[in-house]
Amino acid sequence: MTYRFRDLLALEPLSADELAFLLDQSKPFQEIQRHPLKKLATLRGKTVALAFFENSTRTRISFGTAAARLGADTMNLQAESSSLKKGESLLDTVHTLDAMKPDCLVMRHASSGATDFVARHLDIPVINAGDGTHEHPSQGLLDALTIRDRKGSLESLNVTILGDISRSRVARSNVHLLGKFGCRFTLCGPAMWVPRELHEPALSAGDYILLYQLGAERLRLAKPDAIVLHPGPMNRGIEITPEVADGAQSCVLEQVTNGLAVRMALLFLLIGGGAEEPASSAESSTKQSKESTHAAH
Ligand code: CP
Repeated sequence: MTYRFRDLLALEPLSADELAFLLDQSKPFQEIQRHPLKKLATLRGKTVALAFFENSTRTRISFGTAAARLGADTMNLQAESSSLKKGESLLDTVHTLDAMKPDCLVMRHASSGATDFVARHLDIPVINAGDGTHEHPSQGLLDALTIRDRKGSLESLNVTILGDISRSRVARSNVHLLGKFGCRFTLCGPAMWVPRELHEPALSAGDYILLYQLGAERLRLAKPDAIVLHPGPMNRGIEITPEVADGAQSCVLEQVTNGLAVRMALLFLLIGGGAEEPASSAESSTKQSKESTHAAH
């Protein structure tokens, strides 16, 4: 199997087999994170453009590090100090980056659909690093990789998603991915019951803690072998207690490490064009995907 899309804009259009393939492709890159020498030359000579129009710690650094560990260069748009502040449009901004000839664009934006819109205007692969409340596909993949490692399989698990679900692109990507493996969901959060415009004033931090905070007592209601994931950033003391966030059932830092493996695999597939073992030299990774279908179109 090869990855049949030019871009990765969403998980919703991918089949269970295609999602499993992406997770399988991430496995060799997990090994690399454990290796004392983590740098390959697989994408030497390639350039990854990182355009984060919304703040990020994990995703931006993870994609940048993934590119570096594959030997690629990065160009980094600093949105806060860019000409966006002088009124330059999104499309002019990405066309400007594209004119510097990157091989791929990784993009985050606060508006749902912004990455689809940009992908339709560019000829290079676009990876959605989170768009509004729509999807965060690489987060969905790294969560699934973490769950599969811990549970042995993704089939028919009971998954509770707790928090501000209606605004969560991560929850959406998780449901699209895990749902294809027959997982059963319990969705639980204040936004399900309260209209969005009333959400902030309707629920105080104290109410949230009382009703929804994941603490040790609430976690004891789950199966003893239940695992806890959080995409970050964590609002400690409000949505999760430090005891749980740092406890034995927490996979939070494992998720971050797996994020590197998933993002290396995505860059390798989209820019290197291969589904084989990651090569340690640039010569074996020059195949380019000819498929121009957008995953979310
Ligand atoms: N999980 C996630 O998207 O974190 P960042 O906002 O820090 O990238």
